Amino acid sequence: MSTTPHIAYLDNGDSTQVLPEVIEEMLPHFTEWYGNPASLHQLGLRAEETLDEAREKVAGLIGAKPAEVFFTSGATESNNIALEGLRRLHPKKKHVLISPIEHASVRNVVLRMEKEGFVELEELSVDGEGLLILDSLREKLRDDTLFVSVIHGNNEIGTIQDLRPIAEICHEKGALLHADCAQTFGKIPLNVKDLGVDLASFNAHKLHGPKGVGALYVRKRLKLRRLFEGPPQEQGLRPGTENVPAIVGLAKAAEIAVRDMDEVMPQVNELTKQLADRLQEIPHVQINGPEIGSKNRLPGNLNITFKYIEGEAILMSLNYGGVYVSSGSACSSRSLVPSHVLTSIGLLHEEAHGSIRYTLSRLNTQEDVDHAVVETAKAVERLRAMTAFIPEEHSKRESEHATTFYKQRKEKLD
Ligand SMILES: Cc1ncc(COP(=O)(O)O)c(C=O)c1O
Repeated sequence: MSTTPHIAYLDNGDSTQVLPEVIEEMLPHFTEWYGNPASLHQLGLRAEETLDEAREKVAGLIGAKPAEVFFTSGATESNNIALEGLRRLHPKKKHVLISPIEHASVRNVVLRMEKEGFVELEELSVDGEGLLILDSLREKLRDDTLFVSVIHGNNEIGTIQDLRPIAEICHEKGALLHADCAQTFGKIPLNVKDLGVDLASFNAHKLHGPKGVGALYVRKRLKLRRLFEGPPQEQGLRPGTENVPAIVGLAKAAEIAVRDMDEVMPQVNELTKQLADRLQEIPHVQINGPEIGSKNRLPGNLNITFKYIEGEAILMSLNYGGVYVSSGSACSSRSLVPSHVLTSIGLLHEEAHGSIRYTLSRLNTQEDVDHAVVETAKAVERLRAMTAFIPEEHSKRESEHATTFYKQRKEKLD
């Protein structure tokens, strides 16, 4: 009798499984109500109504007005429309600020602006847990600062920023605040008015909705220059036929996430904490980012450095063992440059390279955690047995095989 090997998907920070209820809600918009919301016949009007309902729902969930919500293809596009849209409309305001732990869809946008000579870019400082140092914001803001962009929940180390005081400091100086909320939406209570942000980006695929759809919140009366030309969808800011089924999926997934948050997130945190505690029994590990389960940490996020070995090697070993994780963020996991997020919080290059991110969701189970612990311990022990850089004190605690192997390697090197 053959048993199917257990698969533990612990990469929900990269993307999540779409919930059956969400798919069910989306389906008729492919097969029955497939009209273009811009068309004037019955099917078009039906699609337009659907869009209005979805917009109202999303707006309600983030504390905005429907007219302040613009549908996009995801958080990358929302971030680009927000920051480029501001820059193009305000050519005289030359100064922009970002946190050093932004996602590439913010960081690379402002780096290009700077490279092309449009703006002067400065980075703010964060502490060892990734929390923005408010004094660095106060010191760096200038009269010509156009915007500050801060990631609400960091995708790698899970740091949640307290945006309210950040917004107040920005506004005192006349600067706008944009927040990338891709990771916080549906995981923690979120109200754009309470946070005081001027613009905020969201997506669906981190909260069990479909990929390729998101939203941008733009505070009323705030203007942006559009990036694309075309018909006047989304109040002319984002021309192009709206992806109605996906937008329905975004609204439904967000509704479920917010509805179930109080019940689901403590469970996710509980499993994450257990995983962290059990992985910390492995020698020479270090947890990166704020305390698991604290108000400044994204539920489900665990970033951990296994010293003296490569994160990529652990990731590959775990992959063979049916545990799916990522090293750093998805975007940096295919490159050898250490994660800018981890180096910004003070990790050495080799520590950053040895880091693995486990991200849990409502769909993870105790069995997933048990499986991940066993496979990680095996992978780490095997990989450490092959490294010459491990301290002697540690190798004594490893298996006999590992110790012998290490000594032989060391003798050879000496
Ligand atoms: C913080 C953050 N911002 C932006 C994005 C990009 O989102 P999307 O995949 O919807 O473009 C991601 C996802 O990778 C993210 O984690």
